[in-house]
Amino acid sequence: MSTNSHKPSKDRILNLFANATQASIYVAQQIAALITQQQKQGKLAVLGLATGNTPKRVYQELVRLHQNEGLSFANVVSFNLDEYYPIYPEDEQSYTYFMQEHLFKHVNIKPQHIHIPHTRCETEDILDYCKEFEDKIASFGGLDLQLLGIGRNGHIGFNEPGSSFDSATRLVNLHAVTREDAQADFGGLDQVPQQAVSMGVNTIRQAKRILLLALGERKSEIVSKALQGEITPEVPASFLQSLAQVEYVLDHEAAGEII
Ligand code: F6R
Repeated sequence: MSTNSHKPSKDRILNLFANATQASIYVAQQIAALITQQQKQGKLAVLGLATGNTPKRVYQELVRLHQNEGLSFANVVSFNLDEYYPIYPEDEQSYTYFMQEHLFKHVNIKPQHIHIPHTRCETEDILDYCKEFEDKIASFGGLDLQLLGIGRNGHIGFNEPGSSFDSATRLVNLHAVTREDAQADFGGLDQVPQQAVSMGVNTIRQAKRILLLALGERKSEIVSKALQGEITPEVPASFLQSLAQVEYVLDHEAAGEII
């Protein structure tokens, strides 16, 4: 199904950096500025967070800002994009573990402010769980900022090719490319879960601001398709073209195939 009804926004914001470190520090600074600005107004900063290799340097910089420059996370509420299913939060491959290691255990975020799709519930309870997750985001007034990476198949969150513009948080089947890319972490393809719980495209596009960070040459092909190709469910990141609140943050290598 083609979705040409979603017209590309004219105000695309494209921010190019010479290298991954500079791009990551820029993203961390944007997040820190939001946290501080909200703090000054006595408000919470509601962040949508991503995992994977791409945001690691962003989190490292946020930890540095907390430890060396007094950035407080006391007013931060976080919602992670996704989590494998099934998995235990204490498993090293889980995104709960990832977030603890790379960010949460180093900063003063309140544990009750952390929301990661947990996948301990039985499959028949997942629908209710996903609805609760959406309701929880809404109860905080929505996401102020959503950080995204992009999969080599164009996924955002685990909205795999074929995902719809209106999709909500749900149980998804992982695409072959996604499972292939995860096999090193899991120690073999057969160990990689077949499913995940992911925020939907609709959940993501409600965020007031969206930063898509892409780093490295291996993302260059999909970045050019997502930014300049047809808007199609086959490349879920292409849906972002129709949104005015999206900013693409790319290093030189990831931007290599943009014309
Ligand atoms: C992770 C997520 C995924 C990743 C994407 C890129 O929470 O939602 O969409 O952002 O798979 O992964 P990396 O950064 O490892 O290349």
